[in-house]
Amino acid sequence: MKVKVCIGTPCHLMGAQNLVSALEKYKSKHEVELKIEAVNCLDNCNQAPAVEVAGEVYAPATPQELIEIVKSKQSSKK
Ligand code: FES
Repeated sequence: MKVKVCIGTPCHLMGAQNLVSALEKYKSKHEVELKIEAVNCLDNCNQAPAVEVAGEVYAPATPQELIEIVKSKQSSKK
């Protein structure tokens, strides 16, 4: 599954790095196939930080919410 994390200035200021860290941690702990990509904008700057999980944009996202979204996408894929 592909996850894009926006690291543009507004998203960076609103904690995008925490989203990346949460994803990296989840990925290594659960050995899941996640392709994490940093992008410069997801057109949701006014709701930073923004992420895109399997083609759907979520903003604003907290690390906890992001992991829940990833989990639910994974279980719906099975
Ligand atoms: S900078 Fe993150 S959505 Fe635009």
